[in-house]
Amino acid sequence: MKILVTGGAGYIGSVATEVLLRTGHTVLVFDNLQQGHAAAIEPGAAFVRGDLRDPAAIGATVQDFSPDAVLHFAANSLVGESMRDPFAYLGDNVVSALNLLRAMDAHGVKRIILSSTANLFADPLKMPIDEDERIIPGSPYGESKGIIERFLHWLSVTRGLRYACLRYFNAAGATERHGEDHNPELHLIPLVLKVALGQREKISVFGNDYPTPDGTCIRDYIHVEDLIDAHIRALGALDAGNRVYNLGNGQGFSVRQVIDAAERVTGRRIPVEISPRRPGDPAVLVAGSGKIKRELGWEPKIPDIDGIIRTAWAWHSRHPAGYGR
Ligand SMILES: NC(=O)c1ccc[n+]([C@@H]2O[C@H](COP(=O)([O-])OP(=O)(O)OC[C@H]3O[C@@H](n4cnc5c(N)ncnc54)[C@H](O)[C@@H]3O)[C@@H](O)[C@H]2O)c1
Repeated sequence: MKILVTGGAGYIGSVATEVLLRTGHTVLVFDNLQQGHAAAIEPGAAFVRGDLRDPAAIGATVQDFSPDAVLHFAANSLVGESMRDPFAYLGDNVVSALNLLRAMDAHGVKRIILSSTANLFADPLKMPIDEDERIIPGSPYGESKGIIERFLHWLSVTRGLRYACLRYFNAAGATERHGEDHNPELHLIPLVLKVALGQREKISVFGNDYPTPDGTCIRDYIHVEDLIDAHIRALGALDAGNRVYNLGNGQGFSVRQVIDAAERVTGRRIPVEISPRRPGDPAVLVAGSGKIKRELGWEPKIPDIDGIIRTAWAWHSRHPAGYGR
C-alpha cells in the first residue's frame, strides 16, 4: 500500500514508518517538525515538511501522493499543556484533522487510522477500561481526540470512510532505530533513563499514598512496536468494518515498579524524590485490550516492563542526546 504517515518524524510515527517500509509498503511522511526530528525520518520514506493547519499544503500532498491509507499521528499531545492552552488542542488538533479529512475526501482516500488516547476516559466506572466505557475526556487534549473520533464516525456514515480509532494508553520502548525524544520530555520511562544516564539528578514521584499496593500510580505501558503491529492489523481489517480499540498491555505497572525495573535493566541507582500528588491523576489506568485480541488476534510481544525498558535503554544509551538536538 501507499501510506501517508502524518507525524512520521515523531516518536510513534517514526516507528510506524520503519515497520511499514520493512513490510513492503511505500510511505510518505508529512510533518512540520515542531516536535519531531529530521533525523527520525526513515531514509526510505518520502518526506514533505508541511503543517496540517495549512489546508493547501496537506491538500497538495494528498493529491500528489494519492495514498491508499493514512496513519494520522500528528498532533499536540500534552494533557497539561492543553489545560493551559486549549486553543492548541480544540483548535489546532481539530483543524488539522479537518484539513486532512477534507483533503482525503477531495481525492478519494478512504482509509484512516487515528491515534486516539486513554484521556477519553477521565472517570471510568470500571478497570480495566474497555470500549464500552463512557467517554468523559480529561482535558482539551482528550476532547480534541474525541471530536476527531466523531468526525470519523460521521464521515463513514456520509462518505463511506473506513476508519480505526486506536486509543493508546502509554506508548513506551524503542526499536533499534527509533526511540522517544520529546521536548519537553514528560514521560516516565525516558525521564527515569535520563537519571540513569546522569542527565538528571533524580526522578520525581507524584504521590506515594494512592490506594495501590506500593502507594504509587499504576499505568499501562505498551511497547511501541506492539502498538504499530495493532495499526497494521487494523489497517488490514478496515475493509470489513470500522474499528475502535483500547490499546494497552492489559496489565499495569506502578511508578515504583517502573523505577525498580529501570534499576535492574541499567544496573544503576535511580534516586527518587516524593512530590505531592498532581491534580487529576487517577490511581490506576489500565486498558482492557480484549476486543482487539479477539477480533484481530493481536497480542503484545513485549508485555513485561523489564523487556520494554530494555529496548528503551538500548536506544537511549546509544543516543544519550536523543536525535541530537
Ligand atoms: N506517546 C504516547 O504515549 C501516546 C499516548 C496516547 C496517544 N498518543 C498519540 O499518538 C500520536 C503520536 O504521539 P507521539 O508520542 O509520537 O508524539 P510526537 O510529538 O513525538 O509526534 C507527533 C509528530 O507530529 C508532528 N506534528 C504535530 N503537529 C503537526 C502539524 N500541525 N502538522 C504537521 N506535523 C505536526 C510533530 O512534529 C511530531 O513529529 C499523537 O497523536 C498522540 O496524541 C500518544
